[in-house]
Amino acid sequence: MNSWREKRSVANRYNITSGSYDEQYAQEQEAKYCAVQKVLNWSGDCGCGGVVLDVGCGSGLFFSCVADKVQSVVGVDISRNLLLKAKVRAKFFCNVHVVQADADFLPFKDSLFDVIFSFTVLQNMPIPKKTLCEFKRHITTGGKLVVTGLKKVFGLTVFLDLFETNELRLLEFIDDSDLKCYIALVAC
Ligand SMILES: C[S@@+](CC[C@H](N)C(=O)[O-])C[C@H]1O[C@@H](n2cnc3c(N)ncnc32)[C@H](O)[C@@H]1O
Repeated sequence: MNSWREKRSVANRYNITSGSYDEQYAQEQEAKYCAVQKVLNWSGDCGCGGVVLDVGCGSGLFFSCVADKVQSVVGVDISRNLLLKAKVRAKFFCNVHVVQADADFLPFKDSLFDVIFSFTVLQNMPIPKKTLCEFKRHITTGGKLVVTGLKKVFGLTVFLDLFETNELRLLEFIDDSDLKCYIALVAC
């Protein structure tokens, strides 16, 4: 399947299931956010003044974890229906904005973001290595990337190799048996 068709079918799948997304996944996703918050230094290098991108933001569940800690948050997603839900969540904050876009073609200038988060998105991408390269292009020098990889899709070596081939330095790695994902915090 060509990659755009593949992406369109992923977007359709999330559009169709958007109504029950929070009910089905909020608890699982929030456990990942919690694990990440424990290793992030919000008052230091991931802190105030920062411009944050949440790629594949879905219904915007992560916004409330980050909006009060940074200057601004942009949520990007390919699914229109999930993004409509994210838009409703964004209205609770004056510094959160949402944009419909493909994670492989982010519509922003280079080096704009201090931290990029991407929770449970890479398994949907045709070439995850290419997607990480796009993330890297949008992070400031010294910025951070927090990305998760579904254990049932990525073997540990395959997941870690994504960072090595993109010359991204692993700072923290979480492999919690209660989580369905590996979580990596990397420096650019
Ligand atoms: C499992 S959901 C995770 C959503 C959100 N990160 C969370 O923590 O709840 C995966 C998300 O990735 C989005 N997605 C899939 N392919 C994408 C692409 N090519 N570009 C942008 N978003 C994409 C889906 O629409 C969906 O919202």
